[in-house]
Amino acid sequence: MTQETWSGWFENVPGYLDSASIGLPPTAAVDAVVAALESWRHGRARPQDYDEYVDRGRRAWAAIAGVPAETVAVGSTVSGLVGPIASSLADGSNVLVAAGDFTSVLFPFLAQQEQGRLTVREVSLEDLPASVDEHTDLVAVSAVQSADGRRVDVEALLEAAAQHGARVLLDVTQSCGWLPLDCSRVDYVVCAGYKWLLCPRGVAFLAVRPQGDGAVGQGRRSGHARHPAKGRRHGQAVCAPSRLAGPGCLTQCAPCPVPPRHRS
Ligand SMILES: Cc1ncc(COP(=O)(O)O)c(C=O)c1O
Repeated sequence: MTQETWSGWFENVPGYLDSASIGLPPTAAVDAVVAALESWRHGRARPQDYDEYVDRGRRAWAAIAGVPAETVAVGSTVSGLVGPIASSLADGSNVLVAAGDFTSVLFPFLAQQEQGRLTVREVSLEDLPASVDEHTDLVAVSAVQSADGRRVDVEALLEAAAQHGARVLLDVTQSCGWLPLDCSRVDYVVCAGYKWLLCPRGVAFLAVRPQGDGAVGQGRRSGHARHPAKGRRHGQAVCAPSRLAGPGCLTQCAPCPVPPRHRS
C-alpha cells in the first residue's frame, strides 16, 4: 500500500506523532462509531447487531498477532484482562516482571502480592530472559515498553521460559500494528487497541494459548496435574479458553456464580 492510498483514510493532522498515547482513527472508524451512536440514540440498537463487529475485530487481531481466533477473548482494558490471570495463579506462585513496566501489566500481580498470594520479582528489562529460573511460574512483560520504547528479547524469553517450565504473558499494546511478532508460542497475549491498532478506547484483546489442561492460570487449588519442570500442582480452569472466546468473552465470566476465591 502506498502512502497516497492510506493517507486518504485519515484526517490531515500534520505532525501527529503520538500513537503511543492515542492512535489517530481512520475516517471509516469514526463514521462507524458515529453511526452506532446514532442508532443507539434513536432506540435502534440491538445487542445481536454488535456481535458481527466483535467477531470481525477478534479475527482481525488474531491474524495480526498470529494466534487462532477461537483463543481470543475481547475485553475493554488490558488491566481487566490481566486481572483474572493474576487471580487464577496458584497460591505461592512466583511472577517475574520488568521494573518500570506499564501499570496494567504490573498492578494485577502486585495486588495479589499484597494479599500474600503471589511473589513478584522485578528485574531490569534487559535481564529478564536470563532471570527466568526454576522458581518462575509466570513472566509478565510488555514487548515494547510504554515509557521509552525499549524492547524485550521475545525469542530469548520464550526459550528461557520453555526451559524452566514458566508461562509467558506478553503485552503487545505498544508493538502490535507496527512490529511483526509471532505470538503463537506465547501463553497469554494481551493488547489494547487504541494505540497502534487505531481503535477507539475500550477495545482490548487476550489470547490464551491452549494449555492442554484448559487452564487460564495455573489454578489455585491443588489436586490436578503436576508441571513436569516444577513438581507444582496445576489447578483447573478459572475460565477455559473456549469460554473466553465466546461472543461475550470475558464479560461472560464476570457473573460466574462461584466466588473468585473459591473457583478451582
Ligand atoms: C504497554 C501498555 N499496556 C497497556 C496499556 C493500556 O492499558 P489499559 O487498557 O489497562 O488502560 C498501555 C497504555 O499506555 C500500555 O502502554
